[in-house]
Amino acid sequence: MQHQVLINTARSLMTPGKGILAADESTGTIKKRLDSIGVESTEQNRQAYRNLLFTTAGAEEFISGVILFEETLFQKADDGTPFPHLLADKGVIPGIKVDQGAKPLSGSPEETVTEGLDGLRERLAAYAEAGARFAKWRGVIDIAEDRPTDYCIHVNAHALARYAALCQEAGIVPIVEPEVLMNAKHSIERCEEVTAAVLDAVFAELKRQNVLLEGMLLKPNMVVSGKYCPQQAGIDEVAKATLRCFRRCVPAAVPGIVFLSGGQDDEDATAHLDAMNRLGPHPWPLSFSFGRALQSPALKAWGGQAANVPAAQQAYLKRARNNSAAVRGEYNAEMEGAA
Ligand code: 13P
Repeated sequence: MQHQVLINTARSLMTPGKGILAADESTGTIKKRLDSIGVESTEQNRQAYRNLLFTTAGAEEFISGVILFEETLFQKADDGTPFPHLLADKGVIPGIKVDQGAKPLSGSPEETVTEGLDGLRERLAAYAEAGARFAKWRGVIDIAEDRPTDYCIHVNAHALARYAALCQEAGIVPIVEPEVLMNAKHSIERCEEVTAAVLDAVFAELKRQNVLLEGMLLKPNMVVSGKYCPQQAGIDEVAKATLRCFRRCVPAAVPGIVFLSGGQDDEDATAHLDAMNRLGPHPWPLSFSFGRALQSPALKAWGGQAANVPAAQQAYLKRARNNSAAVRGEYNAEMEGAA
């Protein structure tokens, strides 16, 4: 039965001690990442970089699923194996980013709404055929003095629920990602207030559109101080504010929360996750679906040189291992020094 397929996939993604690698950077975003190491964003270089990540021996001990971009879903590893098959053979579940990006919101053009619903039913069928068992859609909410508007929160929540319902119809677990950006100067209190309003709107829409909560995962921001806020909240404050907010807004039927890193320092993201898990048990398991906080050191270590692949893989494995420890509430800063 479809429901059971969804529930089983969601549970496998939340295997204790494991989390998700977000390697679904769009063509524009991966270009920025590759530019930062002086590597040209050609299809070949993108394949080489993803090949490095996905063939890292032992990562499957810490990683339950990988979110791919469409190009990567249909690419092959160096040995000719399609990437989704390579991952599935290691017991890692392949996923797919299905949104088509945040676009200016008409009527409030400083804000965005995420597009990609037209034709999504047909695309999902093709992605499932290629091996994808879960998906991701990111709505983006920006904080400023007069933002977000209720209008922006509402349209993004509505689109997230439309997407989630279509995924479940196709037997694909939707990761519902409403991201409140940290790239501003707001306080942690303001982040908590906005995050709560967004989560309330998202769950109201998910229910209205008959989304099975047991067959989805939530991928939110943590409740943190804006990056340019002069008063930065400490690790314990972030953990407590995030948990208070989620306990108020996220139904216990949701089988897991997998945080995004959102531009946090890698080690801070790990420490925050660890601090939350030390305060458990919670109504839902808490894990990670990090992009930058899993990949940044590996990207730098690689630098586009084949000779650096082993060093880059070690760097990725270290972040995966330390975040796995944080999922168990067993991380400590000394582990960053360890080889
Ligand atoms: P970051 O962890 O770098 O925020 O990326 C996660 C993600 O998938 C954003 O959509």
